Amino acid sequence: MSDAVEEVVDVITRSSAEIRQGLVGRRGEVDEENPSGETQAEADVFADELLAERLAAIEGVAEYASEERVEISQVGDGDLYVAADPLDGSSNLKSNNTMGTVFGIYDEPLPAPGTSLVAAGYVLYGPITTMAYAHDGTVTKYELTGGERTVVEEDVTLPDEPLIYGFGGRVPDWPADFEAYVREIESNPDHKLRYGGAMIGDVNQVLTYGGIFAYPALEDSPRGKLRLQFEGNPIGYVLESAGGRSSDGTRSILEVEPDELHDRVPVHVGNTELIDRLETALE
Ligand code: F6P
Repeated sequence: MSDAVEEVVDVITRSSAEIRQGLVGRRGEVDEENPSGETQAEADVFADELLAERLAAIEGVAEYASEERVEISQVGDGDLYVAADPLDGSSNLKSNNTMGTVFGIYDEPLPAPGTSLVAAGYVLYGPITTMAYAHDGTVTKYELTGGERTVVEEDVTLPDEPLIYGFGGRVPDWPADFEAYVREIESNPDHKLRYGGAMIGDVNQVLTYGGIFAYPALEDSPRGKLRLQFEGNPIGYVLESAGGRSSDGTRSILEVEPDELHDRVPVHVGNTELIDRLETALE
C-alpha cells in the first residue's frame, strides 16, 4: 500500500474522532438538500467540510467528492481520488442510533468504476468506534480511540453460515421477484432479520455474522436509493475482499460503469451463496 493511501486512512481515522465528537449539538437539520434530494443534517455538513479540509492537505490526493456536495473538489495534483459518505445513516441522528463514515480511494478521476478502487472502508459509530478497512484483497477490523487505530482482527472473512438479513425500501415497493427471494430467505429458520436504517450498521452485522444486506431496485426507483461512488462501490469492495459478493442484481457492483457522480445503484452484498441465488431470482 502506498504511503499516500496510508495517509488518507490515517486522516479519516483522526477525522472520525472529531466527527463523532461533533455530533453533539449538530443533530438538527440545515435548510438545504444534498444532490440526491435528501435534507441535510448539521452533522452531515460538518463531517463533509472536515473531511474535505483534512484530505486536501494530503499531497497525494487529487480529488475529493462526497454525497453532500454537488461538484467534485479538485484539491491537489496527486493520483488518488477520494469519495466519501461523510455521515452515512444521518437520519439516525434524531433517535441516536448507529451511523458511519464510508470511503473509497480510487486511482482514476471520479466518477470511476469500483474496479479502480485501491482501498475502501468504513468507520462505524456504535457504542465504540470501529473501522473495517480493505486493500490488496484483505480486510482488517480496528477499534478507534483518540484518533488511533488498534487492530482487532486481520484477514477478516465472512462466516460460512449466513445468519443475518436486512433489506431496505418499503415492502410494497419491492419488485415481485425480489419479494419472492426475500420470502425464501426468511423461510430459513437459521436466518434472522436485522435492519437499522444505516447501511454501515447493517453491513457491519453481515460482515460480522454472515448473511445479506440489500437496498434493492424499487418499483418507482429502478436504481434503488444508495449511491454508487460513495456507498455501493466501497461496500462492494469491502465485502468482496472478505470473500463475499456484491451485485447490482446482475453483476458485481464494482463492474458498474458510472454515468454521473451521484448515480444510484441497487446494492446487494453478502455471502456468495446468497448473492448467487439473488441473481438467479432476479433473472
Ligand atoms: O445513505 C442512505 C441511508 O441512510 C443508508 O445508510 C441506509 O441504508 C438507507 O439510507 C436507509 O433508508 P430507509 O430510511 O429507506 O430505510
